[in-house]
Amino acid sequence: MTHTHQYIKSKIPTTCQVHPYAVIGEGVVLGENVIIHPFVVINDGVTLGDRVEVFPGAYIGKEPKGAGALARQPHFERQVKIGADCSIGPHTVIYYDVEIGSNTLIGDGASIREQCKVGSYCIISRYVTLNYNATVGDRTKIMDMTHVTGNCIIGSDVFISLHVGMANDNQIGQSGYDDHVQGPVICDGAAIGLGAMLLPKVYIGKGAVISASSLVRKSIEANTLVAGNPAKTIKKLRCVSER
Ligand SMILES: CC(C)(COP(=O)(O)OP(=O)(O)OC[C@H]1O[C@@H](n2cnc3c(N)ncnc32)[C@H](O)[C@@H]1OP(=O)(O)O)[C@@H](O)C(=O)NCCC(=O)NCCS
Repeated sequence: MTHTHQYIKSKIPTTCQVHPYAVIGEGVVLGENVIIHPFVVINDGVTLGDRVEVFPGAYIGKEPKGAGALARQPHFERQVKIGADCSIGPHTVIYYDVEIGSNTLIGDGASIREQCKVGSYCIISRYVTLNYNATVGDRTKIMDMTHVTGNCIIGSDVFISLHVGMANDNQIGQSGYDDHVQGPVICDGAAIGLGAMLLPKVYIGKGAVISASSLVRKSIEANTLVAGNPAKTIKKLRCVSER
C-alpha cells in the first residue's frame, strides 16, 4: 500500500467524499456517492458499492497475519466486496476475502475475518467478532459483543442477542485444526437469547428459540423453546410466520 490519496484522486468518482487523511489503495474501486471519513485505511482489492459510508478509523482489506503464532494457516483472496448502502462503523476491521451484501450495518469496532460472507439488510452490531469462514444470511441481526466462531453457518432472519458465545472445537485446541473444527449451524428464523453458549457442531432448527444463558450441547429441533444448562425443551412453538 504505497499509494497516497493524491495519487489515486483521479480514480475516485466525483460524487464521492474521501477525506484527505484517508489512505486508499490504488486498486480500490469506489461506487458513486461513497463517503470515506478520516483515518480510514482501504487496501487494494476492495470494492465498495454506491453510497457506502465508512466511519473514522475503519480498516478494510486486512491481511490475516499471525506473527508466527497462528493456530491455523489462513486461506484468502485479496479482495473484499461491500454492497451498496452499507455503513461501516468506526474502528471496524474487515479482513481480506469478505463479502457483504447491500444495506448492511456493521457497528463500531466489529471485526470480520477472512472468508466470511454476510448477507443484505443485516446488522452486525458493536464489537461483534466473526471468525473465519462464517456465513450470515440476509436480514440477520447479531447484537453487541457476540462472538461467531469459525466455520459457522447462520441462516436468514436469525436474531442473535448480546454476549452470545460459540465454539467450533471440542478438542479445545489440543488436536490441531482440521475437519473436526466446525461451528454451529443456526437455521432461518431462529432466535438466540442473551449470553447463550453454543457448543461445536450443534444444529439449531428453523424458528428455534434459545433462552437467555442456555448452554446448548445438542442439536435443537425446529420451532422449539429450550432453556437451561444443559438446554432442555420447554415447549414447542408455532412456526415463525404464525407467531
Ligand atoms: C425464553 C424466554 C422468552 C421464556 O419466556 P416465557 O415463554 O415467558 O417462559 P417462562 O418465563 O414462562 O418460562 C418457562 C419455563 O422455562 C424456564 N426458563 C425460561 N427462561 C429460562 C432461562 N433463560 N434459563 C433457564 N430456565 C428458563 C422457566 O424457569 C420456566 O420454568 P418453570 O415453568 O419450571 O418455572 C425468556 O425466559 C428468555 O430467556 N428471554 C430471552 C431474552 C433475551 O435474551 N432477549 C434478547 C434481547 S437483545
